Amino acid sequence: MADLEQAAEERPEQGGPRERYYVRFTRAQRYLHAVLFTTFLGLAATGLPMRFSQSAWARLLARGVGGFGAIIFFHKLFAVVLTVAFLIHVKGVFQRGLVHREKGIFWGPTSMVGNWKDVKDLLGHLRWMVGLGPKPQFERYAYWEKFDYWAVFWGMIVIGFSGYAMWFAPFFARFLPGWALNAVLVIHSEEALLAILFIFSIHFVNTHLRPDSFPMDMVIFTGVESEEEFKTKRPKEYERLTAEGKLESRLSHPPAQWLTDFSRVVGAIAILIGLTLLVLTLSAYFGS
Ligand code: HEM
Repeated sequence: MADLEQAAEERPEQGGPRERYYVRFTRAQRYLHAVLFTTFLGLAATGLPMRFSQSAWARLLARGVGGFGAIIFFHKLFAVVLTVAFLIHVKGVFQRGLVHREKGIFWGPTSMVGNWKDVKDLLGHLRWMVGLGPKPQFERYAYWEKFDYWAVFWGMIVIGFSGYAMWFAPFFARFLPGWALNAVLVIHSEEALLAILFIFSIHFVNTHLRPDSFPMDMVIFTGVESEEEFKTKRPKEYERLTAEGKLESRLSHPPAQWLTDFSRVVGAIAILIGLTLLVLTLSAYFGS
C-alpha cells in the first residue's frame, strides 16, 4: 500500500502532488466492456447494411468488405464473440451471488438491482435540472447506469434469441410455429434498431458528453478515477467506504500515460463510428 500512496504523490502532472486515485472497475470488467463495445459496433456496422440494403452507403459498405455474404459472416462472428462474453458475465454473477454468497450483488448500495433510492434520485435529478432542488448524491451506480446495464442485458436476451432463431431456423422450426419464425426477424430488426439508437445517442451523452465527464469519461478504460471525481460523482459511495474504513483498500496508482492516451484514441474512434452509424441510420430510416 505504501508504494501506491507514494505513486499517487509522485505524479504532479496528474492533477497535483496530493491527488489520489481509486479503483472503480476491475480489469475483467474493463475487458468485458471492451469486448461489448467492439462487438456491438461490429454488429451494428454489419446489421444496418442488411436492414437498409437499398441505401447507397449500405451497398458501398458491403462491397468494401466483400459483399453481403461477407457482411453476414462477420455479423455471425461478432455475435458468437458477444454471446460468449455475455455467458461468462452471467456465470460470474451467479457464481459470486449464489456460490460465494457475496453480499450486495443482488441487493444493497453496490448492487445493479434498482431500489427506492434510484426512484428518488431520478425525481430529484429532474428537479435539479430545472433548478428546483439540490443535485442527488449518487451511490456506486446511478439510476441511469443501472438502466444502461439492464437495457443491454435484456437486449442480449431478445436480440440474441431472435438472432439464433434466424440463424438456425430449421432447428427452431421443430418447436416454433411458422409465424414465429417470421416474427423473429421483425423482433431482431426493431430491437436492434432501438439498441443502436439508444447506445449511440442516450448512452454516449449520459456517460461521455455530460458536463462533468466531457469530452470522454475514461474510467471504463483506465479503471481508476481521481479522488476529486470520486467525491463529486459518487459522494454517497465515498462517504460509505470512508465510514466502513474500506476507502484505502480501493487506492490505486494513477493511470499510466500510455493507457490514458491509448484509451482516448480508442474511445474517440468508437464514439466517431457510433455517431456515423447513427447519422446513417436516421438518414436511411427517414429517407425511405
Ligand atoms: C447474439 C447476437 C446476434 C445474433 C446471433 C444475430 C444474428 C443475426 C442473423 C442470423 C441475422 C440475419 C442475417 C441474414 O439475413 O441471413 C441478423 C440480422 C440483423 N442483425 Fe443481428 N444478431 C445478433 C446481434 C445483433 C445486434 C446486437 C445488432 C445491433 C447492434 C444486430 C443487428 C441486426 C440487424 C439490423 C439485422 C438486419 C435485420 C433486417 O434485415 O431487417 N444483431 N442478425
